Amino acid sequence: MSRTGVAVVGCGLIGSRRAATAAADPRCELRLVVDTNADAAGSLAQKYGARPASDWRAALEDDSIGIVAAATPNAFLREVAEGALRSGRDVLVEKPMGKDAADAAAIAAAAQASGKILKVGFNHRYHGALMKAHDLFTGGAVGALVNIRARYGHGARPGYEREWRADPALAGGGELTDQGAHLIDLVLWLAGKPREAFAYLQTAVWPIAPLEDNAFALLRYEGGSVASLHASWTQWKNLFSFEIFGTAGSLAVEGLGGSYGPQRLTVAKRNPDGGAPEIEELAFEGEDRSWELEWQDFMGAVLHGKPYWGTPADGLAVMEVVAALYASAESAKPVAL
Ligand SMILES: NC(=O)c1ccc[n+]([C@@H]2O[C@H](COP(=O)([O-])OP(=O)(O)OC[C@H]3O[C@@H](n4cnc5c(N)ncnc54)[C@H](O)[C@@H]3O)[C@@H](O)[C@H]2O)c1
Repeated sequence: MSRTGVAVVGCGLIGSRRAATAAADPRCELRLVVDTNADAAGSLAQKYGARPASDWRAALEDDSIGIVAAATPNAFLREVAEGALRSGRDVLVEKPMGKDAADAAAIAAAAQASGKILKVGFNHRYHGALMKAHDLFTGGAVGALVNIRARYGHGARPGYEREWRADPALAGGGELTDQGAHLIDLVLWLAGKPREAFAYLQTAVWPIAPLEDNAFALLRYEGGSVASLHASWTQWKNLFSFEIFGTAGSLAVEGLGGSYGPQRLTVAKRNPDGGAPEIEELAFEGEDRSWELEWQDFMGAVLHGKPYWGTPADGLAVMEVVAALYASAESAKPVAL
């Protein structure tokens, strides 16, 4: 069986993860690793026996490359994804699908025109507790949606202002664009597109203005349901918490593994007579398998045309909500979606 050649562009934290996942999949072969930093590309190339390069266009010159995984800072995702799609490659692009909604729309249009697979890296959808919560919620286990309360954050680090995430030209936005994009994706995955968006932003601790280190967002739905989101780079102890409240119960996911603590799902079934609900606690221990499961989903789409999560429409919808939230913060008014 011929194996699909893979190029990973951007060999930092996430590119290294993509490289490890691709290298472990017998259906493909990691052939090229690209980074403008020669040391980053060199060490990953050596680890996996791949070829290093400093310019992503090297992937287009190699006919054995069928898949490009784009894991650069946000501002370069568009040119890599568009170029790879136009040259007939399938693409896994990191969230947040570019630096802004215009980038996301351009990438989505390139995917449509190419007929190739474009998947956006919303890996949290593949965490065991979130998949189970999604199954339970969409299966009606807690009734109709009342509201969602989601929090995600870490405490950044000294010198954050010198990293690409603090540079508006490279990142496009601050913590709303960064971890906030994950929360928005999860809300849209569960509840669909909201009608109205409202946000307050803060630049409270890190010297990264005009970018924000905290975002508070409210998304309101047609029927009145509300999702409240808080993404924070001043969350000194890492936190992930995602709670879904329904008319018949609630689902609470805590943790993502690693520094975010073990993943747990608490299922509460409302007691029709009032009083304490019936509680079931589910633990999802062990390795974080979200990257591997996400890659498998991608490969299922690439090799067998299967449906997958993180479509161009999913990625674009998140960036449109992000844009509406920035517009709301700017005007201090709700913005219609
Ligand atoms: N799914 C997730 O949970 C998750 C988590 C973190 C980051 N991300 C996303 O992954 C992407 C990368 O983030 P990261 O944390 O790995 O950043 P990083 O800083 O660790 O790595 C980025 C790498 O890209 C390289 N690079 C910069 N410009 C380049 C270019 N033009 N061509 C090739 N390489 C270039 C840098 O030298 C660096 O090695 C971002 O879009 C980010 O939002 C996703």
